[in-house]
Amino acid sequence: MRQRRVVGLVGTGHVGVAAAYALFIKGLASELILIDKDARRAEGEAMDLMHGQSLVGSMTVRAGTYADLQEAQIVIISAGVAQRPGESRLALLNRNAEVFREIIGELDRHAPGAILIVATNPVDILTYVAQELSQRPAEHIIGTGTLLDTARFRALLGQYYGVDPRSVHAYILGEHGDSEVAIWSQVAIGGQRILDRTVLGRPFDRERMQQIFEEARRAAYAIIERKGYTNTAIGVVIARLVEAILDDEKSVLPVSVRLNGEYGIRVVCLSIPCVIGLQGIEGRVLPELAPDELEGLRRSAEILQQSLRALSL
Ligand code: 2OP
Repeated sequence: MRQRRVVGLVGTGHVGVAAAYALFIKGLASELILIDKDARRAEGEAMDLMHGQSLVGSMTVRAGTYADLQEAQIVIISAGVAQRPGESRLALLNRNAEVFREIIGELDRHAPGAILIVATNPVDILTYVAQELSQRPAEHIIGTGTLLDTARFRALLGQYYGVDPRSVHAYILGEHGDSEVAIWSQVAIGGQRILDRTVLGRPFDRERMQQIFEEARRAAYAIIERKGYTNTAIGVVIARLVEAILDDEKSVLPVSVRLNGEYGIRVVCLSIPCVIGLQGIEGRVLPELAPDELEGLRRSAEILQQSLRALSL
């Protein structure tokens, strides 16, 4: 008999609803509990999802409060204000840090053993803030980080090389934001490095590759300009993390974690490849970086640390 898989989700805005929908379609939990400061909005989203239940499976979705989260193995935090067109993720910082103070207090009271998935931006800073505010181990607090950027990067490279993006072994690491770093030296398709090589008849055209990276790095701005927000890809990213945790997959995914001296970086959260399982962050993989990539990662850390210093925790 499979153990009941209970997931909580705080913040039923665009991102939260996309994550709830992805979890529901994939049937990843037994029960999903939606929490929002606008309780009727959470109720409406739960009702809307549940009307599709007979078509997708037996997962139940209901609106609730923090007191309903005692059984939750995972709680997703997608609450907060989103970027305005042209606004950087770091500019959201103080507005969302305050929101987190209340949320983390409630989660420590009602779901102290749950793994937290932080999706609210600026996600690296807020993952760090959540770790500072919460009593639970830092390894139980995961930021979605550059899993989304890496997914975008692989999708664009897959289009260029004409292969399934799942066959493109590529990572964007560092800040989920303007200073993120493409680890070109390690990108491979079928075990064949692409840097300065022709793979599947496609040359490593540096200008075109830089365009691909920029398209991945700037994707949020381009999407927000067009539809006002991003939500569906980050929703799938959150669902992927829930799946990896609940199925105890031990998958290696780039997520935002607190560095403890890796690459000479500490006292900051940013994305490196991590082993994800039932205990949250179960291991860290440290790919060899080219000198410019290491420099980029350290610069990412510095930018994030500057923002952390601006925060009065
Ligand atoms: C994104 O990259 C806004 O961080 C969100 O889509």
